[in-house]
This record gives sequence, C-alpha cells and structure tokens, in this order.
Amino acid sequence: MHDKALELIGTPPEPISVEEYGRRVGRLTSQMRPGDLLIVQASKMAVHSNDVHYPYRTQSDMLYLVGWEEADAVFTIHHENGAWVRTLFVQPKDTLKEIWEGRRPGVEGALKNWATDAAHSTHDLEEHLVNMMSDAKRVLIRTGIREEIDQLVVSALQRRDRARQHFGTGPVTIEDPTARIAELRLRKSDAEIAQMRFASEVSSIAHVAAMRNTKPGRMEYQLQATIEGFFVYAGTSGWAYPSIVGCGDNATVLHYHQNNDVCEDGEVILIDAGAEYRGYAADITRSWPINGTFTEAQREIYQLVLDAQLAAIDKCRPGLAYNAPHEEARRVLAEGLIELGVITQSLDDALDPESGELKKWYMHNTGHWIGLDVHDVGVYKPNGEPRLLEEGMVLTVEPGLYFGAWRPDVECPPRYANLGIRIEDDVLVTSNDPDVLTSSCPKTIEEIESITGKPF
Ligand code: GLY
Ligand code: MN
Ligand code: MN
Repeated sequence: MHDKALELIGTPPEPISVEEYGRRVGRLTSQMRPGDLLIVQASKMAVHSNDVHYPYRTQSDMLYLVGWEEADAVFTIHHENGAWVRTLFVQPKDTLKEIWEGRRPGVEGALKNWATDAAHSTHDLEEHLVNMMSDAKRVLIRTGIREEIDQLVVSALQRRDRARQHFGTGPVTIEDPTARIAELRLRKSDAEIAQMRFASEVSSIAHVAAMRNTKPGRMEYQLQATIEGFFVYAGTSGWAYPSIVGCGDNATVLHYHQNNDVCEDGEVILIDAGAEYRGYAADITRSWPINGTFTEAQREIYQLVLDAQLAAIDKCRPGLAYNAPHEEARRVLAEGLIELGVITQSLDDALDPESGELKKWYMHNTGHWIGLDVHDVGVYKPNGEPRLLEEGMVLTVEPGLYFGAWRPDVECPPRYANLGIRIEDDVLVTSNDPDVLTSSCPKTIEEIESITGKPF
C-alpha cells in the first residue's frame, strides 16, 4: 500500500544550502552590535527509561541558524577583527562512542560542510565561552535550556563584575534573542517553503492512505500506524507532533491521544497528523465517515465546517490581520449553526466572546504560524495590535465543531451528538491567491466518500 502512496509524492527538495544559513545569520547580525555575543544551544537528550533515550530533536533556533542536528551542540556568533565569527561546538569524534551510538561529523565535519567559521569540541566550550565573554558587552542567550550553560555564563559575568570594580569597565547585559530570531523565522524563504511543501505532500498522502484503509472495526491505532508508517516510509523524520486519531465522541476531545478505540460503523473519525521533514512541520486534520458515507446530520456539520474553512483560507492575504481568518470562520460557523437551529441567539450575540453560544461548539482558534515548530514562533500582536499578514508567512486554517454529548456543561443537540469535525490545512500567504500547501489532501464530501474504504 505504501508503495502506491509513494508514487503520489514528488521528489524531495534540495536541503537548505550553506549560503542560505549565511543569509539567515546575516539578517540577525545586521541587528547586532560588535560587542554582542550570541549563544544558541541544543538541548540534551531526554531519557526514556534507564539508558534508553527518546529520539533526539534539537532546538528549532539551532536548526534555523546552522542546521546542526546533534545533541549538546552550542552555536555562537561574536565579532572579532572587524567581522562576525560563527562558531559551532560539537561532540568530538570518539570511535568507541561512535561504535555504540552512531557516527559523528565531529569538529572536522562541522568545519567542512556546515555554515560555520570555526568549530571546536564541546569539551572546550567553557574555555572558549569564557574568552568570548571577556570582551562581550551584551550576551544574547535564551536561558533555561541547559542549566550548566546558564551557570557558565553567570560565573563568567561574575568574574567580570569583580574586574569591573577595579577597572571600571561597563556593565554587561543579558538579553533573550528569541524574539529577534522569531521575527526572522516568521517569514519563510523559498527553500523553507520547499521543505514545508514536501512535508505537507507526504502528510496529505498519508491521510489519503488512512482514508482508503478505513472500515468498521478498524482500531484508531491502526489508522495512526498507516499514517505514521507512511511518514517514515516517505523519508520524513516521522511525526511533527503526536497524532490525534479519534473516532465518534473521541473526536470531541481536542487533544485526544489514547488512539485505542474501535472505529464503529456510522461514526466519523477525526485525524490530526502531520510529518516533519528536515525540521519543518506539516499539520493536517481531516474528518471522514468510517463506513465511507456521511449521514445527513454529519454532512450538515461537515459542509458547514468546510465552508468556514474555505472562507477563512480566502482571508490569508497580505495586509489582512493575522486573525482575519479566525473572525471569518467564526462568522460562517455562527451563521450556519443559527440556520441549523443549534444556536438561537442573533449573529452578534452568538459571536460575543463572553456570552456567545458559538464557543460552546467551537472553542479554539482557527490557526497558528507553522514552520520549524508546528506552533511556530512569531508574536501575533506586536505592540498590542494584530500583526498584518505578509507574503512568505505560513499559517494553519483549522475550524471545527465539537458536539460532545458527554459534556456536563452544555446541552448537546441530539442530532449531532458525539460528532467532532475539524478540517485543517497549511496556507502560504502570497501576493496572489493563498497557496494551500496541503492541497493534495482531499476534503470535499464527494472526494472523501469516493476514496474512503477503497484500497489504492
Ligand atoms: N496539531 C495541533 C494543532 O492543530 O494545532
Ligand atoms: Mn494546527
Ligand atoms: Mn493539527
């Protein structure tokens, strides 16, 4: 089955080039001053149990600035002899460790193939950092990632404090560079979009494979396996976030993760799953009937969510506020629910954030930035005002309606009891129409009914 699905995927894009990393760093250093020292850290590996670790995934800022994927690395930028110097500290070559844990590029590899000017072993980190900090006027570091590095910075600064009393040199400030880097990450380059398009394409076809593999009696985890198996089969690094695979009333739990229920005839399943490729995430949700045909009631809600989603996607245009898609989706959903008799308030009342009835059935936002993080970085309201969309920004559009009859806080309309529908795509803002990166994933009722339960 996976080979048939594979035929539907295009070829993977070229990796991000060394030149592009250079441009990214250049945009950052253009905002820095010669006395600045930037320190970006990879996190440590997390223990799963005893001597087994979770699969490692480094910090996204490390991926963004240098693309180094190994644990323990530290990347610095400082100014020396009139130029910015990028230094990467990496795990050194170590044959015994490499026999057990896998080969390492080491210092030599880091110098040869990565966007760095200098490379050293992590064993020499302290010595180099102390030297770099002896001249720095401002240290740009996100603290709280690795205690020992925070400690290193603090002790180096304390040593300088003592010198300051004698020589009267200026104070050293510590600043978190996260927001500056986030501002760069928010606007995607062509090369980044190519990675995201591939992650989106693989994720779209994975959902198609799951639709085709659906039938009454399937377990949720079997459809999860179809999807996640294809993520790996297609050469991605697997999921970008844990898959949500919920059938029937499980679909009304927004972050359902047990994925261990049986899929019953007559139910709708909601699957929210996306792959990560070279660090870039896709995020797709589709909802489809287990037996391949929506009931009338399911169709009413599905079509309403789809109408809201299409209207919201149309608001992903340069110059519109980031929340224009959300407001549009809310309006369409509220109008539709009034028409279906679920909401008895006026449209304005239904949309009221405090007392409106819409939020009983639609309680989350319509989207978020997506990129190296599935919930990507970027301030939504800089200076308190909604950010305006720009070409190159990518956001998800994911309205839904959730009628959990199990909820004690609402009276669920019996016609829609235990139905949960969400439809989610990843949308690139362009100077033309919105570009839906996940458009290979079917979403009309006709398309979905024509493939569900029908093997490739
Ligand atoms: N998959 C998480 C989300 O849709 O935001
Ligand atoms: Mn999402
Ligand atoms: Mn999602």
